[in-house]
Amino acid sequence: MIFEAVITTLDEDASPHIAPMGFHYEGPRVIIAPFRPCRTLSNLERTGEAVLNLTDNVAIIAGCLTGRRAWPTAPVASIQGCRLADTLAHIEVRALRVEPDELRPRFVCEVVHEQAHRAFQGFNRAQGAVIEAAILVSRLSRLPVAKVDAEIDYLRTAIDKTAGERERQAWAWLMERVQAFRRGRLGDVA
Ligand SMILES: Cc1cc2nc3c(=O)[nH]c(=O)nc-3n(C[C@H](O)[C@H](O)[C@H](O)COP(=O)(O)O)c2cc1C
Repeated sequence: MIFEAVITTLDEDASPHIAPMGFHYEGPRVIIAPFRPCRTLSNLERTGEAVLNLTDNVAIIAGCLTGRRAWPTAPVASIQGCRLADTLAHIEVRALRVEPDELRPRFVCEVVHEQAHRAFQGFNRAQGAVIEAAILVSRLSRLPVAKVDAEIDYLRTAIDKTAGERERQAWAWLMERVQAFRRGRLGDVA
């Protein structure tokens, strides 16, 4: 089972780098598998540490994909790093080993600390729709236009019926990004 999180790693100058990323468990171990090339991967290779933020703030996910990466952070307990301030829970992990791969190395990590901050508020369809749309946006150059349009049309129903302000903002950022991509052939993510 894959969980979608927001991962925080530290850049070389110790500033936080924030990016949406999936992870899964293999027994007690956390597996993180970033595609090459990406900053999260370089940071993980250099530091061997990361924080998985389990957040329901989908504006952070949409924001990261549209060049809005300056989200408030807070200190963590057991590694060099930081967590998102707005997260339901966070998991601090340390890589035990890396399984090398030219496209997508796997970091096998131990959990060194985990902490809950706020209660889960319940499922929301608009949040799911924003996550799905964010994945589409991260793959715009590889997906046919008709497929992207059809999926966006379907996902929009959940936004129209169930979104709060945060989800509407996230959706608007993603739709702007789709339009900008089509106007100017921008890359997949900011
Ligand atoms: C919900 C979601 C899950 C993602 N999961 C992954 C992942 O598991 N691995 C990956 O390399 N990129 C994943 N991405 C794309 C990255 O967030 C994106 O490429 C990001 O810019 C990471 O690159 P960076 O570390 O250079 O910022 C995901 C994006 C979304 C929206």
